[in-house]
Amino acid sequence: MLECGNLRHDVCAPPGGSPGAQVVNWPHMKKKSKAKTARWKSDAFAKAKKIAPRQAIHIGSTPSTRFRGDAAIFGRLVEDHDRHRALFSMIEASERTSPDRAKLFRELVHEIKGHAAAEEQALWSTVLRHPESTDAGRHAVAEHKKIDDQFADLAARNMKLRGWLRRFGETKKLYLHHIREEEQEQFVESQKVLTLADQRYMRSVFVRRKREEKAKARVTPKIKLK
Ligand SMILES: [Fe+2]
Ligand SMILES: [Fe+2]
Repeated sequence: MLECGNLRHDVCAPPGGSPGAQVVNWPHMKKKSKAKTARWKSDAFAKAKKIAPRQAIHIGSTPSTRFRGDAAIFGRLVEDHDRHRALFSMIEASERTSPDRAKLFRELVHEIKGHAAAEEQALWSTVLRHPESTDAGRHAVAEHKKIDDQFADLAARNMKLRGWLRRFGETKKLYLHHIREEEQEQFVESQKVLTLADQRYMRSVFVRRKREEKAKARVTPKIKLK
């Protein structure tokens, strides 16, 4: 896996080379070590663990992304995605009658509501304004609505019943699909229209907005699915 300190490749193209071409040969590119990637992931998992320290996390491998560990907004978003992957896994592994399941579900919903709202305000609002990346932004925001509806539906059902976990599994599938697409497609399209300064500034906006959005997040239980 490769990373570049300059997120906008037109400022770091080799002499005579075209921006964006032959990325692998640029001298400032360095390989992300497996150890670093593992550390970034385990830092994110540790945040999830604080909610239920004894609950196991079984994630297996995660899709690779060049954005993990990035110092600007995309790295911060992937950090949250890893935290969410851990929370989904912990809920699935929890006993259906244990208080941990309820605590973890509440944390997951508040986390994702805060993350999605802040992501829309810090990133997608700008990405939508660029004609080249409007489709990418629109796709991500539309999926946020679907995910929100599924959480409202889950919140309206009894999590101690066996069928709840099956429904939860559907929401997990949708969310994992959403974040994989963000990391592998929509962030890539977005990066093409954003300067490095934009991306750094967006990180600070995201961090501030996420704190506020998560604090005011509310789940309104509502059956929406058959
Ligand atoms: Fe995201
Ligand atoms: Fe998202």
